[in-house]
Amino acid sequence: MREERPIIALDFPSFEDIKKFLALFPQEEKLYVKVGMELFYGNGPEIVRYVKGLGHSIFLDLKLHDIPNTVQSAMTMLSQLDVDMMTVHAAGGVEMMRAAKAGLLKPAKIIAVTQLTSTSEENMRDWQNIQTSLQESVVNYAKRSQEAGLDGVVCSAHEVDLIKKATSEDFICLTPGIRPKGAAVGDQKRVMTPHDAQLIGSNYIVVGRPIIQAQDPLAVYHQIKEEWNS
Ligand code: C5P
Repeated sequence: MREERPIIALDFPSFEDIKKFLALFPQEEKLYVKVGMELFYGNGPEIVRYVKGLGHSIFLDLKLHDIPNTVQSAMTMLSQLDVDMMTVHAAGGVEMMRAAKAGLLKPAKIIAVTQLTSTSEENMRDWQNIQTSLQESVVNYAKRSQEAGLDGVVCSAHEVDLIKKATSEDFICLTPGIRPKGAAVGDQKRVMTPHDAQLIGSNYIVVGRPIIQAQDPLAVYHQIKEEWNS
């Protein structure tokens, strides 16, 4: 499956910012948004209830990583917020990923973070003592996540092909680092356009600054959505 709506990363610090931003969209326009750590830790579950109350879908990106029992209990709490998708760190291991799934009280997709894009190969070898290439580690984590029953992974659009080949076509690849043609790249290193992300088989794209910092977020959102679906 491919989600037609680009996921908008709500990278704002406050509740007020979220309210102002979401008010720019017509009420009948149901969005898919990403709520991350900053927003969740700063505002609590209330922010999720608010966004959900407006009828939007939610990707709650909290990247859980703890002992299986703790992750299972956390998932039980979070799933009651009726979110649509959540994340865990693949490095937490197979038991932790199974426990994450087992904790769900309501259906939600769980996808894994493999190697963070801020981790270089040198850093991974030195700090994590994983003596393979970064790409091999990403693919290994993707395969293990699938074995553990997860729905997919967060990855670079440039890794989608490799991951699908190592797992299966229906294994979700959710890709940030998406920039429409001509948009500022910011601190993203390896970007891809929405159209190219569609061509390589990405299932979900996540777009933050090009939309939330735009003069006209509604227009830019529609432009990106069109590129993603064309
Ligand atoms: O503003 P921008 O479009 O770069 O935002 C992308 C979003 O995706 C941000 O919330 C960022 O934290 C997240 N993300 C990312 N790269 C990853 C994982 C998450 O850009 N590897």
